[in-house]
Amino acid sequence: MAFGSLFRRGPAGGRILVAFASQTGAAERVAWLSANALSRSAKNLVRVAALGGLAAEDLGDAGILLVVTSTYGAGEAPDSARAFVRKQMAQTPALKGIAYAVLALGDRKYDATFCGFGRGLDRWLASGKAKRLAPVVCVDGDDDTDAMTKWCEQLTRLGASTSVEQLMPGAPQDWTLAERRLLNPGSPGGEAWHIALAPKDPSQLNWTAGDIAEIWPRNPQTEVEAFLARHKLDGGLSFRWAGHWMFLRDIIAHCRLPQDHEVEGISLDWLVERLEPWGLREYSIASLPASGRMELLVRKAVKDDGSLGLGSGWLTHTSTIGGVVSLRLRPNPNFHAPPDGPQILIGAGTGMAGLRAHLLYRAQKKLGDAWLLFGERSPACDLFHGEDIKGWQADGTLARTDLVFSRAQSRGQYVQQLVAENRAEIARWVERGASILVCGGLKMAAGVEEALVAILGEDRLDQMTQDGLYRRDVY
Ligand SMILES: Cc1cc2nc3c(=O)[nH]c(=O)nc-3n(C[C@H](O)[C@H](O)[C@H](O)COP(=O)(O)OP(=O)(O)OC[C@H]3O[C@@H](n4cnc5c(N)ncnc54)[C@H](O)[C@@H]3O)c2cc1C
Ligand SMILES: Cc1cc2nc3c(=O)[nH]c(=O)nc-3n(C[C@H](O)[C@H](O)[C@H](O)COP(=O)(O)O)c2cc1C
Repeated sequence: MAFGSLFRRGPAGGRILVAFASQTGAAERVAWLSANALSRSAKNLVRVAALGGLAAEDLGDAGILLVVTSTYGAGEAPDSARAFVRKQMAQTPALKGIAYAVLALGDRKYDATFCGFGRGLDRWLASGKAKRLAPVVCVDGDDDTDAMTKWCEQLTRLGASTSVEQLMPGAPQDWTLAERRLLNPGSPGGEAWHIALAPKDPSQLNWTAGDIAEIWPRNPQTEVEAFLARHKLDGGLSFRWAGHWMFLRDIIAHCRLPQDHEVEGISLDWLVERLEPWGLREYSIASLPASGRMELLVRKAVKDDGSLGLGSGWLTHTSTIGGVVSLRLRPNPNFHAPPDGPQILIGAGTGMAGLRAHLLYRAQKKLGDAWLLFGERSPACDLFHGEDIKGWQADGTLARTDLVFSRAQSRGQYVQQLVAENRAEIARWVERGASILVCGGLKMAAGVEEALVAILGEDRLDQMTQDGLYRRDVY
């Protein structure tokens, strides 16, 4: 990744360093937009840098430091800043003379650790006697207009010309559900579905291996129309909602449908204000634009009471073929392809989605020299995209393939054990420059990381992270 260089040493002034730490691209996007807006003022000299590539002294060189960061794991830093936490944040920095502000991205569903890393960073910067320009701004999810308005005000005070609309992610686009197929009938695990989506606007066929689809679950259209008819509401009226102008019909489609008694006798404006939006759900994109459609691999989540997860239930069950799917593409530079070269791809379950996009990319570029280590439950039912794997073995994309199944009768195993078992070979691949991609659940990813640290050492893995050779899409 190309980042702006740091300032040379010199007097402070209108020099602004925008540092970011991002796992899935949201903080990185806001950091660049903020920097661009600030640089439109002739007074400002603005640089952007990944926090993980900086030392505490670099921060001390900035006149003004703006940090945009997300929180991962349980209150932890994104991968790219974990070495920064261990090496830089272990000491009190000397930051007297600089002024700073922190924008912390997070999600309130993580409750006790909401924006934990951003808040911790704010405290650490203050401990170094840096001057806090404003209290840390905590952002709850992608569409938190109130928090982003505060950040926008902060930028404006520093001379930026921007608006909150420009800082918010764009509106979702309409796609249609083109195909839905169960990939693992009879599996002892949850159902895994192949979902194919076609864009209404072909210019939407524009993403890179590693990117993410944000899906906005909808109520079935019939229920929306029945609701509008029951309450004599005009679905064609427009309202400003979640930062965008939308038809009432579409707003209601994306919210919990209110009970009749919640609607009786209240004004339309108040109703729209009180609607509770369904949250977005993220899915790793499993295909490339060249196929003309977007493919996902979605596990149907079933709750204890038998009801389905909101997003996965909608994609795998409730939505109808040919129906609308509201989707926003999220670039995820942290999981884009590393420099061409040998590659180890590790994953389990729906992690096949993100790995598949990378294998398709490598097959397209005829790169060869890839090693897939993949784990699932049952060898008889759960080899998702097995035909693709055979094809990649046949055309040389996959030089080596190791598949393990935790419910195999002979020897059940998890992918993290496979990594540990192959320590010598993994070390050899890394010695000759292999990158490592990991995709799938957090528990698997933590086990894989433990095994990789045992093989390569923490410092080597940190260095690979900084060099973009160790990349994860984990959830
Ligand atoms: C970067 C990223 C990439 C991802 N990629 C993929 C992918 O490729 N494929 C994939 O399948 N998923 C992927 N996910 C996960 C996905 O975004 C969703 O989290 C997942 O589909 C579950 O969402 P849901 O709306 O179906 O379930 P939710 O409604 O959010 O429920 C999720 C779980 O929470 C629990 N739960 C929630 N509410 C209740 C309740 N009231 N009572 C009891 N339990 C409850 C249940 O255990 C349930 O299974 C990804 C996530 C991220 C962050
Ligand atoms: C696996 C996972 C763990 C997360 N943990 C936290 C958390 O502990 N606290 C929090 O506030 N947000 C948490 N989040 C939410 C992210 O911080 C939020 O989605 C943010 O917008 C992501 O920004 P990024 O794309 O720049 O990484 C978590 C998200 C995921 C997928």
